[in-house]
Amino acid sequence: MAQTPLPRPHVNVLFSANQIAARIATLADAIVEKAPRNLLVVPVLKGSFIFAADLVRALHHAGLTPEIDFMTLGSYGTGTTSSGEVRVVQDVSAELAGRGVLIVDDILETGRTLAHAKMSVLERGASHVTTCVLLNKPVARATAISADLKAFDCPDVFVVGYGMDLAHRYRELPFVGQLVENSSERD
Ligand code: IMP
Ligand code: MG
Repeated sequence: MAQTPLPRPHVNVLFSANQIAARIATLADAIVEKAPRNLLVVPVLKGSFIFAADLVRALHHAGLTPEIDFMTLGSYGTGTTSSGEVRVVQDVSAELAGRGVLIVDDILETGRTLAHAKMSVLERGASHVTTCVLLNKPVARATAISADLKAFDCPDVFVVGYGMDLAHRYRELPFVGQLVENSSERD
């Protein structure tokens, strides 16, 4: 028997699929201009998986043939505020010594996640690290870090979509948006 589909969430679009695609093409050109021959792209999972998938394909169209490996970090649990502690769930398995590495993440907020990723890649011997985030939240950082490349500055609200979640939901949305409060009560 067919199941009744869950109601669609009410999400205000902040960055549309078209806006994101246009920025990614520009970012890819900027990355290719300076990329070393043996570039290793390291998406920080899970939130960056869609951004990274689109970015590496844009890198391909821009003429780059990077290696890709993943790092899974966590700090949020299922809430909307950071626990303040970054957990390494899974580390990069590729050799990092002497490599140029591009770290790709979804959001730069307190900076703990990106700082942790960058430090761990450098500790393993990477010769050069560039950081690229989809969204930069211009809030007070817990650590002094800024992204080398960013697609957008983002208002200081909790966002979902395009890979980003609230308790593992909404990652599939093809845009970045803000959940409308009490949206389930309206369905
Ligand atoms: P930071 O360590 O505080 O900079 O947080 C960065 C990480 O927290 C990001 O990689 C995201 O995974 C997550 N995060 C921060 N803000 C949001 C948000 O608004 N929506 C979903 N995830 C977020
Ligand atoms: Mg993340």
